[in-house]
Amino acid sequence: MALKRGLGQSLKFLKKNKKYGWVSAMEDIDSRKAPRGVRDILPAESWKWAYVLNVAAGVTAHFGYSEIHLPVFEHTELFTRGVGDTTDIVEKEMYTFTDRGGRSLTLRPEATAGMVRAALEHGLCGDRGQGRASKLWCWGPMFRYERPQKGRYRQFFQIDVECLGLPGPAADVEVIALSAEMFRRLGLKNLEVVVNSVGCPQCRPQYRKVLFDYFMSRKGGLCETCLGRLERNPLRALDCKKPECSSIADDAPSVYEHLCEECAAHFEEVKAGLTRLSFPHRLDKRLVRGLDYYTKTAYEVLSGDLGAQNAVCGGGRYDNLSESIGGPHLPGVGFAAGMDRIVMVMEQQGASFREKPQSQVYVVAQDDAGSCPEARGAAQVLTHRLRTKGIAAEQDGGDSVHAARSFKAQMKSAAGAAWACIIGPEELAKNLVALKNLRTGEQIHVPFEDVESHLKT
Ligand code: HAM
Repeated sequence: MALKRGLGQSLKFLKKNKKYGWVSAMEDIDSRKAPRGVRDILPAESWKWAYVLNVAAGVTAHFGYSEIHLPVFEHTELFTRGVGDTTDIVEKEMYTFTDRGGRSLTLRPEATAGMVRAALEHGLCGDRGQGRASKLWCWGPMFRYERPQKGRYRQFFQIDVECLGLPGPAADVEVIALSAEMFRRLGLKNLEVVVNSVGCPQCRPQYRKVLFDYFMSRKGGLCETCLGRLERNPLRALDCKKPECSSIADDAPSVYEHLCEECAAHFEEVKAGLTRLSFPHRLDKRLVRGLDYYTKTAYEVLSGDLGAQNAVCGGGRYDNLSESIGGPHLPGVGFAAGMDRIVMVMEQQGASFREKPQSQVYVVAQDDAGSCPEARGAAQVLTHRLRTKGIAAEQDGGDSVHAARSFKAQMKSAAGAAWACIIGPEELAKNLVALKNLRTGEQIHVPFEDVESHLKT
């Protein structure tokens, strides 16, 4: 009886979820495939990701930022309070679950709230958040239940950079400059930096009211989503992409006339700093971003080659985030760049990821038709020795299911490497290795023990 009731409830649950599109087709689930919106980064692409991360690590180090690793799930409250409960992220995009201990946890939809939480928990900015700056960066997967499309995934990767503890506009300029420098080093073209100020708790309430009145006077032309949240957050109507809202938002009162003295001065300094560093940027009074924590500066870097999901990077200042999660006052400014989109744009633009890393050395055993099995043994020893000395090496059988291939077949495999180390009966007899430069075709014989020193020179 209880089982029957349980089954009935489950069916009802499934039907309800199906109706709302949450469960698209339970009966179609194929466990040999990744869930919708989630993908594998295969070896053909992953070396490009490693390259992007390497560049990010270099730039952040040059700007004085240290890497940190954060958990992929946090208390749900961190995001409801930190990111804001009128945001799309909190309203409808979080992967929230209850763990076996009954706690509500959420897969991180972004990294900023977690970064601030970690800085507070470990006193990285001094006692109670006061005292010293903490410049941190991290990278990793984020999770949002969004409608998948080109450049938009449910699990995506961000490079996240945060400067905590510094209230002045110089930090905003540094963070924007860091993101621009990262894209320059990666060779991204056709980018645009768009900057705005979204005010602070002093000036924003008044601007919200002005905006609310403006949009209310044109409410007949707004989409349902904007209408639904007009009262709670009229600023969001400013960046609605629907054509009907967009033309109304174009004529909306400008934030610049409503910034308080401090926000206006801060914004002037940010603009002056960007100009001083020769960063071309466009001002956009409609840029408000989809997270509630922003104060003063908000910015995005847009790509002309991405279609609808054209932001490769977004960020800004969030001076009240720490307080909203129960911490002390801790100003902060940062950005997150979408790795999936960066790699996509680089591929589209034919950017260089540098050379695909490949075996520097291919060790070839001359043992056609099993004529010299000792050569294979020596090749195995040499391959291992080179690897332990930090030289990338491959051998027959390591890259092909057909082990014991002919000399010719092995030389063909060696083509991608810089050197071939050839060991045959003649070399074995004299304890030598034939070292062939595969770029120039030049070949010399060196003692078996000296291969690595020759390769290194
Ligand atoms: P965000 O604008 O939500 O900001 O995301 C930053 C970047 O992550 C976007 O510009 C985009 O490149 C990438 N991204 C976002 N959602 C997706 C998705 N579904 N699929 C693929 N890529 C995506 C933040 O997350 C803030 N935490 C940024 C920040 C840091 N603000 C201050 N500090």
